[in-house]
Amino acid sequence: MSQPSQPTRAIAHPNIALAKYWGKTPGTDNAPAVPSLSVTLAGLATRTALRPDPALTEDAISLNGRPADEATRRRVTALVDRARARAGVTTRVEVVSANDFPTAAGLASSASGFAALAVAARAAFGLPFDPVEASDWARRASASSARSLLGGYVELPAGVEGRDELLAATQVAPPAALDLRVIVAVTTEQAKSTLSTDGMNHTARTSPYYSSWVSLAPRLLARVRAAVLAADLEALGVVAEESALAMHASALAAAPGVLYWIGATIDAMHRVRALRASGVGAWFTIDAGPHVKVLCAPGDAARVSEALLGVPGVLRVIEARPGEGARLDEAAT
Ligand code: DP6
Repeated sequence: MSQPSQPTRAIAHPNIALAKYWGKTPGTDNAPAVPSLSVTLAGLATRTALRPDPALTEDAISLNGRPADEATRRRVTALVDRARARAGVTTRVEVVSANDFPTAAGLASSASGFAALAVAARAAFGLPFDPVEASDWARRASASSARSLLGGYVELPAGVEGRDELLAATQVAPPAALDLRVIVAVTTEQAKSTLSTDGMNHTARTSPYYSSWVSLAPRLLARVRAAVLAADLEALGVVAEESALAMHASALAAAPGVLYWIGATIDAMHRVRALRASGVGAWFTIDAGPHVKVLCAPGDAARVSEALLGVPGVLRVIEARPGEGARLDEAAT
């Protein structure tokens, strides 16, 4: 019997949207309805090892030491199928993926997970490193993951109705363009109740505010991009807060409303605004879960962390900074 081949390893980081993606373009393969802009975060990572194995009859997928659930398995296999089709092979793969941050920490592990998977799958089948095509493949699995292919500040355009074409993220500015900190206030250890895919589809179907959100989002995006390029943290914080609240307003107005916040979420938002009133530059953003992520200058990170830890219901904080895009993990053995 031949020796099993060495796995191909890739690493990717989660990202946080400063201009949110919420909603899909009809008649596309998971293209967003609105453009989004995020910052890729250093210090937190998904590492994925992928090994083609001719003995397998289906892909074997392990996430954080457990077999992947059915929905994740389908998304993973669909992405690896693209690499197989491009390479002209049918070999099944073993995928072992793990995060070095808690999955329930409110940092979308799917974003870093599918970004690392796209890089590993291409390399394992002998395809060249290509962040554009890898970003397109990742986007089809989970749109926010398209942004984790690239480092620093990253934009993903909206799709065009009925057109299923290449749609990939691009870098707006490198990590050093604006050296901010993101303090994540973790408010629960439970996994979120409504998955983002379901939450946004339900919002699109039933919320009277969804069309307003879709027409507002490009204007918010333009302001986020301009703030990043001007390295203006205050302007960025102000519009990031607006984007998060507008996204949640559209979800809250669905029938029934999609409510991701718990008491600690609201208390943390008020704490951030109180900090601001006292002269500390801090702005919040919230994704499809109850955790609060706070943007601030590096020099204010300790003060912001301390203030958030003083909010009842905030269990712990994680500090992150702008980081690099997905890549092969050469350092791994
Ligand atoms: C609130 O990328 O998880 O985090 O494409 O359906 O997998 P799917 O959705 P996903 O949605 C992320 C939504 C968000 C905002 C954002 O990251 O832009």
